Formats: sequence, structure tokens, C-alpha cells
Amino acid sequence: MHSGVFSEFDRACMKRALTLARRGAGKTSPNPLVGAVIARGGRVLGEGWHKRCGDLHAEAQAFEAVFSAGENPAGADLYCTLEPCCFTSPEKHQPPCTGLIIKNRIRRVVIANTDPHPRVNGKGGLALRKAGITVETGLLAEEGEELNRAFFTFQRLGRPFVHLKIAQTLDGRIAAGSSVRDCRITDEAAHRSVHRMRARHDAVLIGRGTALADDPELTVRLARGRNPVRVVLDSRLSLPLTAKLFNLPDPEKTLILCAAGAGVKRIKAVQNTGAEALPLEIPAGARGLPPAAVLSALGARGIRSVLVEGGEKIFSSFLREGLWDSLSVFIAPLILGGGVPCVSGLGIDSVAKALRPGGVKIQKIGNQILFEGKNVYRNY
Ligand SMILES: NC(=O)c1ccc[n+]([C@@H]2O[C@H](COP(=O)([O-])OP(=O)(O)OC[C@H]3O[C@@H](n4cnc5c(N)ncnc54)[C@H](OP(=O)(O)O)[C@@H]3O)[C@@H](O)[C@H]2O)c1
Repeated sequence: MHSGVFSEFDRACMKRALTLARRGAGKTSPNPLVGAVIARGGRVLGEGWHKRCGDLHAEAQAFEAVFSAGENPAGADLYCTLEPCCFTSPEKHQPPCTGLIIKNRIRRVVIANTDPHPRVNGKGGLALRKAGITVETGLLAEEGEELNRAFFTFQRLGRPFVHLKIAQTLDGRIAAGSSVRDCRITDEAAHRSVHRMRARHDAVLIGRGTALADDPELTVRLARGRNPVRVVLDSRLSLPLTAKLFNLPDPEKTLILCAAGAGVKRIKAVQNTGAEALPLEIPAGARGLPPAAVLSALGARGIRSVLVEGGEKIFSSFLREGLWDSLSVFIAPLILGGGVPCVSGLGIDSVAKALRPGGVKIQKIGNQILFEGKNVYRNY
């Protein structure tokens, strides 16, 4: 909801702040992406963004830029993609930005999104108003929501953001057979796009079936960016230690989630490769590791976004539980006429009850159509 009337210059400054914020993609988690611009009289005095977790906040960066340009921020407007923080805690590295804004005599603060963090959530804006600063929120709020979808999902739902990525044929198959290593369905352009997705997520997740069939690395090789944590769901911890995931230069980034009864010997063997095996307590009779327990374990490790890369059983589990937020389906111009479907067993018995992703975007990537949609059923 808008709490002010915004000018074209306001929009341009917030747009710039959002662009700056994006530069931190893949580096700030578990913190949000934030950008800030300080301007006065239609002129930008300084700008900044949160570069990585633990570094200066965007507002502080913007003030530094103003000072190094020999300018004085007094009486200026501050455009901030996220409500400035207003608290200190032992695990927080930086002081509250509200203090800095008040001290530097900013006249007006324009915010895209309120910070849903329970220690902020409107209190940052309130502290500024109490100090006589005009605060206006809601400018380009939708873009801000999209930018920080992982951070907002965690704050509101208490679990990481789940992005399902599927590569399928025209007839909805993800492989010709579930246990054979085969050619890929998609082309190099789609692979580059997937590697860019990996670089923007904290973790990539697959099931034991995919780890066995495809022996993937799940690293970022065709794009710039760091490797995400590689998560495999393997209840019995039965993946062979010869799998590529155990033999990469950064073995500590491989995390195998298993059932509590997987066996100490096996856990030790996995740990000897440098990877980690994490046993989860699962309810008696559960088939596989419950997605909710998986997400809770990942969230507890600071993981805020997960790219789920398959296979069929994994996609089906997360969809069945409603534990997904966005969907990217690469549709390749191939017909198999059989093989592994992308999902099954959702218990949907009529078209009327079909899951219908919202916010649909369609584009062409190489030889594929990329369909993107959002889960419109979750509510917060
Ligand atoms: N085109 C694509 O986008 C794509 C992507 C990935 C894979 N694939 C293909 O898909 C095939 C593999 O699919 P798949 O369905 O056989 O295997 P999968 O979904 O990769 O793995 C399923 C296994 O994961 C374990 N698991 C643990 N918790 C689970 C849970 N909550 N839900 C589901 N499974 C859980 C189970 O083994 P335990 O009971 O032993 O734990 C289960 O058998 C391969 O052919 C692969 O090439 C295609």
C-alpha cells in the first residue's frame, strides 16, 4: 500500500536502488538484498548496496559514498528498497541504520517494502517518524517483493523459498527411463540459464534417484557465481561414495539428508569424504524424508532458498505438500511417448482441480520454451 505520492524522480531513484540491490544476489543470504540512494534537489549524492552478509548495510554504504564525494547528506531524501533496521543483537554485525539516518539529518525516507523481520516490521519507520523524518512506503513494492522473495518467504513462513526447476519434453517426460544415464533433454542455452539459477540460490536439492541416474555435480560452471550447497535426499544413505558429489574440490558443500536410522558407520563414511550426512527424525511410516522436515533442517542452517532439480518423486512430494513457491519448466522440442513423467500422484482427479501457477511468464531460451509461474495457493 502506498503511503505517499511519488514523483518521476522518486521512481527513478527507487529503480536505481533496486538495480544496486541486485548486485548482491547470491552473496547476502541469510540477509536480504538491499539498495539505497541519497538525493537532494533532483541530484543523486551517493548510492550503495549490501554487498555480502556481514558487510555494511546499503544505507551506510550510501552515506560513505556521499561523504567520499565531499557532500553533506543533511536535508536529503533517502531511497531504500527495504525498511531500515532499528535493532542490535549479538548475531547482527552492523549497528541500526535508523540511528545513522537520524544522525545525518535526512529529511525524508522512501521505502519499497516494510521489513517483515519481527525486530523491525514497521518499527524502523516509526523510529524515523519519531525523529521528525517523513517516511513513505510502498514505492515499487512489487519489484521489491520479487527481489527479496527468499528473505520474505523465510520471515513469513519460517522456511526457505522453494523453486522447482524441471526440464521436460513436449509430452511431459523428464527422462526415458529412471535408472539410465542418457543424453540431456535441454540444450546448452538452457544449461547456462540453470547455472545462473544455481548461483542465485543458497542450495540445490535432488533425490537419491537422480543422484544415481545422472551422477550430477550440481555446481556453477556455465555462469559466474559461487556454488550453492548441494543437498541430496537419501533416507538410507546408500549413494555410492564414488558419486561425483563426494569427489568435488569443495566437498563440504555436499549435504546428504538421511533418516535417523541410517547407521553411524555409513554416516562416518560420508563424513570421511568431507561431505556432511545429517540424520532427520522422521515420523514412523513416512515414505522418504518429509519435505517440511527437510526445509526446516535447511532453514536452521541459514539456507533461505532452494532450487529443487528433481527427479519425479521429489517434484511430486514438494508439489503434493504445497511446499513450493515458484516453478521454472524448460520445455524442449522432443517427444518420447513414454518414460518418467515430471510429476505423478498428486491426487488431482479433474481439470477443475488442477494446480494453476500464477504470474506466468513465458520466454524462449535456446531451443526451449521456459515457462515460469508462482504458487498462488500459499498465503501469508
Ligand atoms: N529432466 C529433469 O528435469 C530431471 C531432473 C532430475 C532428474 N531427472 C530424471 O528423473 C529420474 C529420477 O527420478 P526419480 O523419481 O526416480 O528419483 P528422485 O526423485 O530423484 O529420487 C527419489 C528418491 O529420493 C528419496 N527421497 C527421500 N525423501 C523423499 C521425498 N520426500 N520424496 C521423494 N523422494 C524422496 C527416495 O529414496 P530413499 O527412500 O532411498 O530415500 C526416493 O526413491 C532420473 O531418470 C533422472 O534422470 C530428470
